[in-house]
Amino acid sequence: MTRSHARRTHQTDHGSVLGSAARSVLVTAGVVALANIGRKVASQAPTAMASDWCEGLAREHDAVLTAIDKLAATPAEHPQRRTVQLGMIKQMIGKHALEEENVIYPMLRRGGEGDAFGKLHKEHGEVKAMLYELTQMDKADPGFDVTLEQLREALETHMREEEDVLFPALRERLSAEENRKLTRTMNLAGVMVA
Ligand SMILES: [Fe+2]
Repeated sequence: MTRSHARRTHQTDHGSVLGSAARSVLVTAGVVALANIGRKVASQAPTAMASDWCEGLAREHDAVLTAIDKLAATPAEHPQRRTVQLGMIKQMIGKHALEEENVIYPMLRRGGEGDAFGKLHKEHGEVKAMLYELTQMDKADPGFDVTLEQLREALETHMREEEDVLFPALRERLSAEENRKLTRTMNLAGVMVA
């Protein structure tokens, strides 16, 4: 091999290494960008389609439970897929929790539901702690599925009380104009974070 041929070969190998590294970075960036778009669509869609705050929150509840069921159905052999799905669930719950904590729960307390206000906040705290545990856990660990099931059960109990008792009572107490204003305020709070 001549010296110039050796130099060309070395440059080509070097270039190909850089090329594959750059491609890998671009592919990763693309996956992250798509995951971010997916998270935004998943968290914004339910309330964007609803005309009323109560209906919007109920749709978000359904969307979260559906996303948890999808994660539970994802085999442990796909830990990265589980991580992306968990990230989406965290985004959905984060937006939802902020809408409730910043707008809806204060309205419940204003209406005399002080005990419910404290209980709902405590339940949100427990949900956030479970999401933290799931984030830290090995996604292939059988304990991940156990904690995920506990999260689902806690959410369902919390959602039933909101949807069946507390939220309809609040909507009933407010005038049509007050409910419209509450819907706008809640949607604005949600858009600010997701
Ligand atoms: Fe909720």
